[in-house]
Amino acid sequence: MNAITQDVSASTHPGSRLASLNQWVAEVAALTRPDRVHWCDGSDAENAELVRQMEADGTMVKLNEQTHPGSWLHRSDPDDVARVEHLTFVCTSEREDAGPNNHWMAPAEAHAKMDALFDGCMQGRTLYVVPYCMGPIDSPLSRCGVEITDSPYVVANMRIMTRMGAPALARIEREGERGGAFVKGLHSIGELDPDRRFIMHFPEELAIKSYGSGYGGNALLGKKCHALRIASHQARSEGWLAEHMLILGLQDPQGETHYIAAAFPSACGKTNLAMLIPPEGYLKDGWKISTIGDDICWMRPGKDGRLYAINPEAGFFGVAPGTSAKSNPNALASIRRNTIFTNVGVTGDNQPWWEGLGEGEPAIDWRGEPYDADKRPAAHPNARFTVSAKQCPSWSPEAENPEGVPISAIVFGGRRASLVPLVFEARDWTHGVLVGAAMGSETTAAATGAVGVMRRDPMAMKPFCGYNFADYFNHWLSFDNGGNKLPKIFHVNWFRKGDDGKFLWPGFGDNLRVLEWMIQRVKGTVGAKETPVGLLPDPADLDLDGVELDQEARAKLFGFDREGWQAEFEGIGEYLDGFGPRMPQALKDEQQRIAARLDQG
Ligand code: GTP
Ligand code: MN
Ligand code: MN
Repeated sequence: MNAITQDVSASTHPGSRLASLNQWVAEVAALTRPDRVHWCDGSDAENAELVRQMEADGTMVKLNEQTHPGSWLHRSDPDDVARVEHLTFVCTSEREDAGPNNHWMAPAEAHAKMDALFDGCMQGRTLYVVPYCMGPIDSPLSRCGVEITDSPYVVANMRIMTRMGAPALARIEREGERGGAFVKGLHSIGELDPDRRFIMHFPEELAIKSYGSGYGGNALLGKKCHALRIASHQARSEGWLAEHMLILGLQDPQGETHYIAAAFPSACGKTNLAMLIPPEGYLKDGWKISTIGDDICWMRPGKDGRLYAINPEAGFFGVAPGTSAKSNPNALASIRRNTIFTNVGVTGDNQPWWEGLGEGEPAIDWRGEPYDADKRPAAHPNARFTVSAKQCPSWSPEAENPEGVPISAIVFGGRRASLVPLVFEARDWTHGVLVGAAMGSETTAAATGAVGVMRRDPMAMKPFCGYNFADYFNHWLSFDNGGNKLPKIFHVNWFRKGDDGKFLWPGFGDNLRVLEWMIQRVKGTVGAKETPVGLLPDPADLDLDGVELDQEARAKLFGFDREGWQAEFEGIGEYLDGFGPRMPQALKDEQQRIAARLDQG
């Protein structure tokens, strides 16, 4: 298929053989009144033309071709740099179905509000029709969508982040002719006015409407909007899980690969862990990490009862600040070419620059002004890179496996300066679900609002679960049905601080030491210490060769603080009660059992 650009007078000319798709595009065009309609085929030629236009109108700035071939900088509106949770809604017909974890609006009211904003909003612009597939094109676990947008920057990003274009359209048409549905996403950057910005989800209609933002999580609708909020809803009714998790392969010196999925809140280390480079001793012994995904994981039980996972995405939309040759060499190697940078600074010779890069000097900041350290950082703290996953040196071809990879361990974790030890294991699935449900983390720059405030972020899904958390926990519990061979569940905390306010654990590559312990636990080759909150490692069972931990660090990273946990469990109990009668009794019982054991002393 060739890309079709048509002026709107000809928009009755079908871009697809699927009548329902043509009809929806025609309806949207009639509402938004663009000058042109363009059906994206995802080709190189199409992308080159989009990039040419964006360079001409200043949407993208070419970076140094010698050092960063094929790479571009986009500076977003300064008021549009992160997800906006207070403007993000889940619009189910019953308010209770969205739950206290979501902002809710009645579907009819939300449609009316959004359609008023969309009315005529694409005048003078091109409407792009972007067919995409989340997951390998030939995978039964994958799901498709079509995003309509007036932002060529969104099109260029969707081309990297998803399987976008002709093959996706072909699958949508094939499925559509058999009565299958695709997610309908409508996006316009509008006038970028924060007071006229909403991201609305209609899970019962498989629809998304996003207006007034060009930022990734608000605008690349395949990502958080589809692959998490809508997909979590779909997954519940179809018996699978859509999660905010990285997926990595851990190959041991014997050549066996174990797959691990891990949920950490935004800007808490998923991309870093997914691309981990083993410490020296491990490298020598033959350990290897391969990357399947760094942000989203869809998984469901296979015929053998194990959970099989795919990464629905095709690229990485990673946090730039803090990414260095030391902290994440694989990420740095990935973004040397064909990368879109958003809101980073640039050096005098036009190379991308951010705080923590560890080389070069900034000349221009992310707002395009001369760099002044007293004024603002060179890169916005939530500056991002968009790059094809295949450019990552640790990328695993298993990411294309239509069957997915079998998961041996699920890991939850967050930023906890105090109380929470480096690692512990849940006793069983129900306990593991409670560990996930009780997750807390200090907030980061990935969303607007205060940074560093501890909040509950169950399974790192607080901003992304498309339905009532109480029902979500119940769905998780339902996988323990006697037939499934479920993975072990762990909790980690890379962010424990000492009295001096510094991190006690070196983190990054050294996190492999903790992963190795998990795999030994999965295989049953090491023991663990029973505590009311879970199973803790004997530090002697971890390979800490070359890691310097003083007395305080050991005590805090591997210790169990009964009084602290008593207070924590009181908070967890209150949190679960906040969901009312829908909260599964099994989870409340588990919380009470542990609280009682903590009180027994
Ligand atoms: P999203 O892409 O927003 O979902 O976030 P993410 O979970 O992928 O976060 P990412 O890996 O980009 O982590 C961002 C921040 O966490 C950076 O500031 C890193 O320096 C820091 N970080 C990652 N791993 C570690 C670690 O092991 N220890 C410490 N101390 N910091 C870490
Ligand atoms: Mn994320
Ligand atoms: Mn990430």
